[in-house]
Amino acid sequence: MSQVDKYTRTAVILHWLIAFLVGLNILLALTVDYFPDALVRPIIDFHKSVGITVLGLVFLRILWRLTHQPPPLPATYKPWEAWLANSAHYGLYALIIAMPLTGWISDSGWKGAPTHPMMLFWIIPWFRFGFITSMDAANQKYIHDLFGNFHTLLSYALYGVIGLHTLGALKHQFIDRQPAIQRMWK
Ligand code: HEM
Repeated sequence: MSQVDKYTRTAVILHWLIAFLVGLNILLALTVDYFPDALVRPIIDFHKSVGITVLGLVFLRILWRLTHQPPPLPATYKPWEAWLANSAHYGLYALIIAMPLTGWISDSGWKGAPTHPMMLFWIIPWFRFGFITSMDAANQKYIHDLFGNFHTLLSYALYGVIGLHTLGALKHQFIDRQPAIQRMWK
């Protein structure tokens, strides 16, 4: 195969780690109701820990992006393909930031928060937003419900953009027979 423009090793590791953790979090959230009652709270706690971890990794990914030039899209892409690919990338950045943030804000207004401190992976004490935890009960409930609804609505957008991104990569790889996956692989 001729020379392929590739992302750096750091970018590749961050890409697949974030993809795995986002996929895991979607799976946990969508299947939690099928688990026995005793496991529901631990699974949601795990979901929160994974989500906060994703937020940290996205921050690193953005630092990478600001300090590195990503490999250009192949010149063989039609203008609409390049436009769609770039839009999906920006959409993904926006959503993988907005998902953990809306979850975290909603959780800060949760009425169970005072008796259920946040612990990342049951080890690291983590904080909720003080300006929300100090609100009166009615406002906390308002924030909890509002951002819980945003969290759900954004998850639908996330499914769409992940689908677009994945199908696009597979189309380039297997229909156009161009090395797409190799760009994000070492
Ligand atoms: C990568 C980050 C995240 C992703 C992709 C994600 C995804 C999801 C999805 C798909 C749902 C189900 C929505 C629905 O159909 O109603 C959900 C629910 C939920 N998420 Fe997240 N989430 C993330 C981060 C977080 C964080 C950081 C928190 C809190 C700190 C959080 C708290 C919750 C809670 C409490 C629920 C409701 C669970 C239930 O009671 O069924 N999420 N999340």
